[in-house]
Amino acid sequence: MESPPASQTPRPLHNMFTAVPPHYDLVNRIITLGLDKRWRRRAAQTCLENRSQTILDLGCGTGDLTIHIALLAGEETEFIGLDYSKPMLERAQQKAVKAGVGKQIRFIHGDATQLPFSDAYFDCVGISFAFRNLTYKNPLAQAHLAEVKRVLKPGGRYVIIESSQPENRLIRMMFHLYLRIFVKPMGIMLSGNTGAYRYLSESARRFYSPLEVRDMLLKAGFRDIQYRALLFGAAGIHVAFR
Ligand SMILES: C[S@@+](CC[C@H](N)C(=O)[O-])C[C@H]1O[C@@H](n2cnc3c(N)ncnc32)[C@H](O)[C@@H]1O
Repeated sequence: MESPPASQTPRPLHNMFTAVPPHYDLVNRIITLGLDKRWRRRAAQTCLENRSQTILDLGCGTGDLTIHIALLAGEETEFIGLDYSKPMLERAQQKAVKAGVGKQIRFIHGDATQLPFSDAYFDCVGISFAFRNLTYKNPLAQAHLAEVKRVLKPGGRYVIIESSQPENRLIRMMFHLYLRIFVKPMGIMLSGNTGAYRYLSESARRFYSPLEVRDMLLKAGFRDIQYRALLFGAAGIHVAFR
């Protein structure tokens, strides 16, 4: 794992993400009823459309999206996973080795708001379930979007898979109920981390609609925003072009 010099930038949620890892994958599997794996695979396929050769997984966590991409892609592709939580990255490295792609992926310890890459380096930046953390009530939301835009090549894509807000009112109510009465208590019980799963449940209930995400991306200078809903809109994949 590579590590640039420590910066003085404030790091919202950083303590929470260094505390979560031991049970992180198990909790994800249970609270999404196993769907998270299928969704990340869909996001990985989207990242590889347009024959991307250089791909960054931003906020890679324990590496699931990076590993899916590496397993699907050819050897000429360069994969990098970046996260500011060292325990997440250590777990990602172990999982990549176990999946047989340990040598193909570089995991880097760094911050999404100060990316250690030159301008126009990537064909694609993918992000799975970290966009909400980086934008919802996050004072550094604009800094992260500006950095993603900077490191993307012209025509490069930002592929975002994230929880969303179902358009249908009844389904939305059921989804919010599920977050409150299943996701929050189950996450707390399995991980012992009350703060993290309270935050997850609340931020997912209040997170932006697809149209609001679209507006945010347009304001940050991205164009041709596309959106595909997953599971009646409980989650979705946004694609934004630089
Ligand atoms: C909910 S987890 C998602 C992890 C992984 N992408 C997945 O699909 O399971 C959010 C991840 O984003 C990382 N993260 C949040 N803010 C970050 C930042 N400013 N810079 C780098 N990583 C960040 C956290 O450490 C955490 O690993």
